[in-house]
Amino acid sequence: LTKDRFPEIKRGNYAVLQDADVSFFEKVLNKNQIITDADEVDSYNKDWLNMVCGYSSIVLKPKSTEEVATILSYCNDRKLAVCPQGGNTGLVGGSVPVFDEIIISTSLMNKIIDFNSLTGVLVCQSGCVLETLMNFLQEQGFIMPLDLGAKGSCQIGGNVATNAGGLRLLRYGSLHNTVLGLQAVLANGDILDSMNTLKKDNTGYHLKHMFIGSEGTLGLITKVAIQCPPYPKATYLALLSIESYDTLLKVYKLARSNLAEILSSCELMDLASVEAAKENLKLSCPLPDAPFYMLLETSGSNGDHDEEKLSDFLTTCMDQNMILDGLTLTEPSKMRALWSLREGISSATKQDGYVYKYDVSLPLEVFYQIIIDLKEHLKVCSDMKRICGYGHLGDGNIHVNITSAEYSETLKEAIEPFIFERVSHFKGSISAEHGIGFMKTKYLKYSKNKSEILLMKNLKSLLDPKGILNPYKVLKD
Ligand code: FAD
Ligand code: MLT
Ligand code: ZN
Repeated sequence: LTKDRFPEIKRGNYAVLQDADVSFFEKVLNKNQIITDADEVDSYNKDWLNMVCGYSSIVLKPKSTEEVATILSYCNDRKLAVCPQGGNTGLVGGSVPVFDEIIISTSLMNKIIDFNSLTGVLVCQSGCVLETLMNFLQEQGFIMPLDLGAKGSCQIGGNVATNAGGLRLLRYGSLHNTVLGLQAVLANGDILDSMNTLKKDNTGYHLKHMFIGSEGTLGLITKVAIQCPPYPKATYLALLSIESYDTLLKVYKLARSNLAEILSSCELMDLASVEAAKENLKLSCPLPDAPFYMLLETSGSNGDHDEEKLSDFLTTCMDQNMILDGLTLTEPSKMRALWSLREGISSATKQDGYVYKYDVSLPLEVFYQIIIDLKEHLKVCSDMKRICGYGHLGDGNIHVNITSAEYSETLKEAIEPFIFERVSHFKGSISAEHGIGFMKTKYLKYSKNKSEILLMKNLKSLLDPKGILNPYKVLKD
């Protein structure tokens, strides 16, 4: 249990769930919308990485905004703490209770409300699974502006609540850009309807931004309006192997200038990441071993034009001896297999036993230096099994995964705060896309200054004065 591993975190002064509370929820929701069976509740108490585990005894599954509003208004009056949960794929322990918080799962709030094929604006409930939305949009000739390895389980509400980045951010920008409007229920049950569907709306404060990336601490997101791009007519995927990080930066610079507007993804995998996927998931890499791999995707509306650009780019790379090897894929099944290798790294490292996961932004010049520094710093730690670096090179976001056969306090203490101090030294961010959740609250100070944290706290008190929404997350007491 989290409370045993983190004894310094004390349960807040919240009410304890009573039979009378369950009776109230039974009046508001149907039987199949309430889970109290201990075995079933168990899976909602544990996060994807098995880092955080609470002991909630109830999961509520509202179907509408009004049901969420009734539940939250009641919990606020009773001072019962709640934990909003989407697909439970979050990687910083934000999606599960720390103690006995009531879990409010959005999984039954899964209706697509409207899609405008002229503007590409999709309106849906927050519990729609990302992949379901992708499949729906493909039939309409559109795509979601975000894609990530957890697409089969994560929900759009969870994506917005974490401001998830993923594999397409390079092209379409963050959710602060593509989410046009949203609806959220505040801690006291008030419904904030900010369902703008216009591209431009400059009428004062943009309230949606408060909820994007708020990780369930300011309100429960119930609906989302999102701008979706057209389905690209032509997509190519190239895999390059590269000898050194310095050369990799040269290839990156060339890709940005030569592939320019058709570049839709630029990902990095080091050899250790690829080895993890090969060993633990039995996946194969189509190129021989090399220190670095770069995955480049292009998407455009004219296949011939894109192919010509890509082939010119690859020819230059080869002529200038920048790459060891390279291949281009156009066949959808082969492209999917290569994406599985990249997207599978997080599952692969998890299978080593325990994974210490870091997700940082760094200036590109020192992007990979963090792995080199950590390798040197941890070389005396016998508990370490593997260290690997991969991620969204084009967005300056590297994922550092360090693994051990089982959880080791010694290894954790060797990594933290060392890694955050290095990131701060390089003027990076301690969380590029996964958020702060429960695991990183202690280290928020490395990326936010005192006045920023104070304003965050004031905002939290204004919107949730009793602190019932996802306590122990984002902000330390
Ligand atoms: P959950 O995990 O259920 O919740 C995440 C947080 O949001 C919690 O704090 C929760 O309280 C809150 N929350 C959830 N729903 C709501 C709501 N409706 N209203 C208010 N708060 C809510 N992230 C990236 O950024 N880029 C990636 O490429 C990426 N790849 C991933 C790959 C894998 C295999 C996995 C397991 C995770 C990955 N992630 C990635 C992590 C990412 O944050 C999540 O996958 C996703 O955005 C979370 O959505 P979810 O529905 O699972 O939310
Ligand atoms: C990814 O890019 O694969 C995700 O953010 C998940 C991870 O960091 O492992
Ligand atoms: Zn990522």
